[in-house]
Amino acid sequence: MRRALALKFDLNKGDMATTAISKTGAGNRTASLPPASLIFGRTAAMQTTRMKVDKVASSGVPILIQGDSGTGKGLLAKFIHQLSPKLNSPFVKVNCAAIPGALLESELFGYEKGAFTGAQTAKPGRVELADGGTLFLDGIDEMDISLQAKLLQLLQDGQFFRIGGQEDMRVELRVICATNRRLEAEIASGRFRQDLFYRINVVSIELPPLRSRVEDIPELVAHFLQIHRVRHNMEARPLSASALHLLSKHSWPGNIRELENLMERYVILGSEDAISSELLNWEYTHTPREIPVEGQIHLKKVTRQAIDDLERKIILSVLEANHWNRKRTASALRISYRALLYKIRRAGLPRKRGMHLPPAQIISPSPAAREN
Ligand SMILES: Nc1ncnc2c1ncn2[C@@H]1O[C@H](COP(=O)(O)OP(=O)(O)OP(=O)(O)O)[C@@H](O)[C@H]1O
Ligand SMILES: [Mg+2]
Repeated sequence: MRRALALKFDLNKGDMATTAISKTGAGNRTASLPPASLIFGRTAAMQTTRMKVDKVASSGVPILIQGDSGTGKGLLAKFIHQLSPKLNSPFVKVNCAAIPGALLESELFGYEKGAFTGAQTAKPGRVELADGGTLFLDGIDEMDISLQAKLLQLLQDGQFFRIGGQEDMRVELRVICATNRRLEAEIASGRFRQDLFYRINVVSIELPPLRSRVEDIPELVAHFLQIHRVRHNMEARPLSASALHLLSKHSWPGNIRELENLMERYVILGSEDAISSELLNWEYTHTPREIPVEGQIHLKKVTRQAIDDLERKIILSVLEANHWNRKRTASALRISYRALLYKIRRAGLPRKRGMHLPPAQIISPSPAAREN
């Protein structure tokens, strides 16, 4: 079998990609995905990513998406596919981390009858199934180094062979890879081929952690509430301003996936108290967020933030230890009762465990405001 799809790519049309989808009516296919405005949100970094995606989606070049777990790499891969001329062709995902090495080869490239014990019939691999469309290799860092050579050949000339096969096969597809590890470090330790890295990394997209997209949290919350209300056929009120404030202070180690799961629990449990105690508990037991070390550092601001985080953590611990009795907490901390109330409000903590401050009582702890 030799197949070659003549797909015409036009880089200059990239900017028009978003509009083109709705014009051709293909917008229906994107109905399962959130709107682009939600996927990219408002931060400058994600706006730059959006422009990059608009430019490259129609080009067919390999794309490498990097980012921590739950930042939306899988979602973005689907979005890029739906924005491309291949949107009506298959989108085939392979989770390299979930399939052990030897099996991954047969899963990807397929096998001929009799290729190994148990191969009673020939089976096409996912590469063939993705012909004409997009092959999404999730967790590419987990691929065995021996299999990486075969993938490199596929990327170089579109050729591969099934296990036990004699004949080279040919496909035309776009490859999108995703990883939550730094591939440069994998190369340095000999676990990832440098030549393959350059092949898959023609365009590189870095998805930021949710904690640096705080301004997008309210829209994401509204989106997930709507989804889970419908999914569970349950009512749930919009979150109060104080609960949203708590969400904005959380460091989100599980990123957008963690926020989605939290919103699902909120819809099911029907109470803000449950989720706010969960977040407070998390803060109580975990270390404060890491201090950013890239780019320029505003020492005064970062130090103030670290002190505030530490103070907040100490107050929380002592409140917990005193069953949220504020008089005893103040005395244990050797500060006045009034000073404690002020600090509780300033840190955006509830007055009691499971209670919420009315929005007017929240003092915004914005770093700029605290500068002076
Ligand atoms: N911008 C977004 N808008 C709405 N939902 C999102 C967004 N980003 C991610 N999600 C949702 O969050 C969840 C996690 O996203 P996804 O699976 O794409 O993350 P990931 O980076 O691939 O994670 P992992 O590294 O663990 O595979 C999914 O349910 C996805 O639909
Ligand atoms: Mg994923």
